[in-house]
Amino acid sequence: MSDPLVIAIDGTFASGKGTLAKRLAAHYGLKHLDTGKLYRATARDLLASGGALDDAEAAALAAAHIDADTLDDPYLKSGGMGAAASKVSVYPSVRQVLLEFQRNFASQGAVLDGRDIGTVICPDATVKLFVDAEPELRADRRFRELRGYGEDVTLETVLSDLKERDHRDMNRAVAPLKPAADAHLLDTSHLSIDAAVTTAIALIDAVVNAK
Ligand code: DC
Repeated sequence: MSDPLVIAIDGTFASGKGTLAKRLAAHYGLKHLDTGKLYRATARDLLASGGALDDAEAAALAAAHIDADTLDDPYLKSGGMGAAASKVSVYPSVRQVLLEFQRNFASQGAVLDGRDIGTVICPDATVKLFVDAEPELRADRRFRELRGYGEDVTLETVLSDLKERDHRDMNRAVAPLKPAADAHLLDTSHLSIDAAVTTAIALIDAVVNAK
C-alpha cells in the first residue's frame, strides 16, 4: 500500500493558509487540523485555570489536557487568544506535548496547517507548502475578519500586532516559522482564494504523480 497522503501547510499569520488547508482537505477527502487551535486552546485553558502566560510549566500542563472536542470554540478565534497562543508556543515543553497529538492526527493521512508542520511535525510529508503574502494585505484581511466578529479594532493596530507576531514566530528558539528546504512557496498577495487553491492542487498533483 502506498504511504498516506500528508499535506503540510505552513505560513505567516493571515496568509490564507487556513482557508487553503480546509479547501485542500475537502478536495482530497482528507481530515484537516488547524494546529494553531492547539496553541490557542492551551492559552485559553491556562488562563481559565488562573495560570499566567509566562508560566511554562503550567502551560505544558494545560497543553497535555486539551480536550479535542473544544477546538471549535469560536472564542479561540479572537485576536487576544492569537497573541496569547503565540506567547505559550515559545515553550519547548508545550511544543513537545502538542507534537505527539499532531503526529497521531497525521498518521493516516491529513492536511495540517501551522508554523512548523513541514520542518518539525511532519518532515516526511508528501507535499509541503509555505504560504505568505505582503504584511499590509494580510493585515487588511485580518482586520475585516475581526470586524466581522464584532471586534473594535483599527487597521493600524492589526498591522502592528501582525508584525510583532511574525517577529516572535520567526525568531523563537524552538521550531521557528520558516519554509522547509523542500517546501513550495505560494505567495497569495495577488491571488484570490480560488486561484490559490487551483495553484496548490496543480502543485500537489504534480508531486504525487512524480512519486
Ligand atoms: O495560526 P494561528 O494564528 O491560529 O496560531 C496562533 C499562534 O500559535 C501562532 O502565532 C504561533 C503558534 N503556532 C505555532 O507555534 N505552531 C503552529 N504549528 C501553529 C501555531
